[in-house]
Amino acid sequence: MICMALLGLLVVIILFLMVIAICVSDTDLTLKFYERFGIQNGENLKGKVIWITGASSGIGEELAYQLSGIGSKLVLSARRKSELERVQSTCLQRGVTEDEDIMILPLDLSVFDSHSSAAQKVLSKFGKIDILVNNAGRSQRSYALDTSLEVDIECIKLNVIGTVSLTKAVLPDMVKRKSGHIVIISSALGIMPVALQTAYSAAKFALQGYFDALRSELYDENITVTTICPGPVVSKVVENAMTTTVDKTAQDLGVDAAMQYGNRMPTARCAEVIIISMANKLSEVWCSRHPILFFIYIGQYMPTIYRFLSKFYARKRIQAFRETLRGKKTN
Ligand SMILES: NC(=O)c1ccc[n+]([C@@H]2O[C@H](COP(=O)([O-])OP(=O)(O)OC[C@H]3O[C@@H](n4cnc5c(N)ncnc54)[C@H](OP(=O)(O)O)[C@@H]3O)[C@@H](O)[C@H]2O)c1
Ligand SMILES: *[C@@H]1O[C@H](CO)[C@@H](O)[C@H](O)[C@H]1NC(C)=O
Repeated sequence: MICMALLGLLVVIILFLMVIAICVSDTDLTLKFYERFGIQNGENLKGKVIWITGASSGIGEELAYQLSGIGSKLVLSARRKSELERVQSTCLQRGVTEDEDIMILPLDLSVFDSHSSAAQKVLSKFGKIDILVNNAGRSQRSYALDTSLEVDIECIKLNVIGTVSLTKAVLPDMVKRKSGHIVIISSALGIMPVALQTAYSAAKFALQGYFDALRSELYDENITVTTICPGPVVSKVVENAMTTTVDKTAQDLGVDAAMQYGNRMPTARCAEVIIISMANKLSEVWCSRHPILFFIYIGQYMPTIYRFLSKFYARKRIQAFRETLRGKKTN
């Protein structure tokens, strides 16, 4: 009897400590564990061939800097060649990666038929691809009913099909070598969808579904799939977001500042979390400041409560969005 009571008390204490740990953390607890006890500083990523898409800005750019500091061999892709050249030269100034170990490969993720020749270019330079980091992407911010169907199509085409297409271009060589690692930069919205980001939430949910299923297929091929779900991170993602049309960005509408969360994770910390996850081959990782991290937990473990709370949050968010739009028009 006393034994049972003690056991019960122990369980309560452990649960209590876990809740405290979650409250003071900026990642899920598994990542925290590996950050403390796992492979440190990405030391096993030195010399690895790592292909980063969306390396011209934000999270991908910062990831390139940190990996070049470790001494990884890098392939940097995005549409803007001049920006990739800027990132490359900063890598060479700050990092330890040598000149011949960084390759710039301009690539449009939504031009699917260019992907396999891009993969061939990387293979003929480095002979293999150890890790593909599918980071390139574009967000969306608009009221669904005001949003043209082209935005929904483009959001899925770029973020989902583009990522799937590039991954399929890289996988055959990994399968042949029985070694490889695919990293997906999903989002907190791949777990907890929010108002005004319908198409983007759908895209990130689709990514999670596809790559969760793919992970199980690739297990016997010795290929790892890592999904990263960041909350708000400092980058150009809001400015570049599509709105009611594909070409009209949030920055064009002047809603960029109003639609930013105040409490965003620094870009460098997000890149650090990605490196820990890659080095330790984790399956799914969450990183965000609170209260968003807290809401990821609610979204995952208490979806009914999440849906209930969403109603109030959506109302507030839509109202704020409309007010900034109205304010911009009268200016
Ligand atoms: N920042 C956040 O709050 C946050 C949170 C969760 C998830 N994410 C995800 O993190 C990833 C990186 O975004 P970020 O925050 O770093 O935003 P960002 O600063 O806007 O960077 C986006 C990158 O994607 C590239 N890109 C956009 N369209 C492309 C296309 N058609 N083909 C090839 N590359 C393309 C851009 O390069 P070019 O314009 O030169 O092509 C740029 O390098 C995205 O998948 C985003 O969904 C971001
Ligand atoms: C699996 O891949 C890793 C590197 O990604 C490699 O070190 C290991 O030898 C591979 N194992 C098998 C059984 O091929």
